Amino acid sequence: MRSRKVQFLVISFLVMWSFITYYILLRNSNANDMTMQQQQQVKRLLPEALREDTKSLKLTRTLVEFLKFKYAGDQDQQTTTTPKISIVAAEISNELPEQALDKVMPATLKTTPAQIPNKTYLANGEPVIPILVFACNRVSVEKCLDNLVEYRPSIEQFPIIVSQDCGDERTKQVIQSFGSQVTLIEQPDLTDIFVLPKEKKFKGYYKIARHYGWALNTTFQIGFDFVVIVEDDLNVAPDFFEYFLGTHKLLKQDSSLWCVSAWNDNGKANVVDTSTPELLYRTDFFPGLGWMLTKELWAELSIKWPKSFWDDWIRHPEQRKDRVCIRPEISRTRTFGKIGVSNGLFFDKYLKHIKLSEDFVQFSKINTSYLLKENYDKTFLKQIYVLPLVTFEELRRNLIAIEGPVRIQYNTRDQYKRITRMLGLMDDFKSGVPRTAYHGIVSFYYNKRRVHLAPSANWKGYDLSWS
Ligand SMILES: *[C@@H]1O[C@H](CO)[C@@H](O)[C@H](O)[C@H]1NC(C)=O
Ligand SMILES: *[C@@H]1O[C@H](CO)[C@@H](O)[C@H](O)[C@H]1NC(C)=O
Ligand SMILES: *[C@@H]1O[C@H](CO)[C@@H](O)[C@H](O)[C@H]1NC(C)=O
Repeated sequence: MRSRKVQFLVISFLVMWSFITYYILLRNSNANDMTMQQQQQVKRLLPEALREDTKSLKLTRTLVEFLKFKYAGDQDQQTTTTPKISIVAAEISNELPEQALDKVMPATLKTTPAQIPNKTYLANGEPVIPILVFACNRVSVEKCLDNLVEYRPSIEQFPIIVSQDCGDERTKQVIQSFGSQVTLIEQPDLTDIFVLPKEKKFKGYYKIARHYGWALNTTFQIGFDFVVIVEDDLNVAPDFFEYFLGTHKLLKQDSSLWCVSAWNDNGKANVVDTSTPELLYRTDFFPGLGWMLTKELWAELSIKWPKSFWDDWIRHPEQRKDRVCIRPEISRTRTFGKIGVSNGLFFDKYLKHIKLSEDFVQFSKINTSYLLKENYDKTFLKQIYVLPLVTFEELRRNLIAIEGPVRIQYNTRDQYKRITRMLGLMDDFKSGVPRTAYHGIVSFYYNKRRVHLAPSANWKGYDLSWS
């Protein structure tokens, strides 16, 4: 409410101010002692002032309409987000371009000229897995594409599709400079998005969600079984393609799996075991940042795709439905960009320390079936709870006499946060799930040993209130 009042005051002030300016201008124009130059200036300024005035009048009308709507209606509904309110409120905040009010939906969208390669399986029966790169206005997408093109083992099996939003010409030229190495598709709906004034700073997230929805729909329409998503600020590891080749089958074999991600949220060089680049995990936390999904999953999500914050949305129990992702011990992606919608501080503190794997693991040749739920839960989960239990202090001060892996227990949210902060791990939760956790267990490497930060053995599930 407060902000509405402030808004009202500011707008009233602006309206008054523009009337007064207009009045003074009129008065001055009648003065006889003006020089030629001044008279010309006034002539030029008058139409402008008139235009501004018409705008002010329109704004005032809208404001009155808005206030009528607001106060005549239910007094308790302070945070209604009915379309009417959003549109009116957005207009007040000058959020909408003039034409947007007339047509609630863009009338005509350009059709995509995209010629996405349409082969979905190779002659040898292996799937074609397109790499869908999301670009907007960062010319640094070049670094990402250089990397992908360099490590790609087969142009036929891994077509690179770059989907561009934002219509930035320089970025488009950079993408086009890759010639036939990549396919450029362009998100056709560049209209502004209606957001409430208080959500103005989140507008980027609305555009990203719209872009994802469109590009995934467009790509899966061709008939691919799998798609790998990469953002324009990611570098990939040499075995990035092998990683997805070796794991895609798991997504079809195990219905409790819904993604393979190339990212380890706790992948900082000092908390991973660099001698085990082949090691993979199951995680309840959706990592994103270079990830593969199936067309079945897209069919399920696309019909209810959100307008913003798709990554938080996807992590919600309503979407996740207890499904898990595969993630590597050592990241196969690394983000280099800090300009954009995500937080620069966060980049400096965590993201820039993530180690990008340099080894080449032939994932397609190794047995990854230990990652299937029935195998993993029998071995991994069981093994954790028979490990020696130590305290964080003992670990930190290297006071553990025995060799090999250990377990540290946490019981509360605050305890979890304290321990992870001291270890330099990510301390946050999304929908109650700690980053990288599987059944609440967060596994990392510390002082040359494997450590599992785990809840008690009778753990009952994630607590949505942990955040
Ligand atoms: C696939 O693409 C080729 C050329 O790129 C075209 O000739 C063919 O008609 C396409 N097939 C389908 C089913 O769209
Ligand atoms: C994708 O296409 C389907 C079918 O045409 C449609 O129902 C859905 O709303 C689209 N989703 C997005 C996010 O565009
Ligand atoms: C792969 O590993 C699983 C155990 O995780 C084992 O049961 C299976 O026999 C192995 N397959 C091959 C081909 O070695």
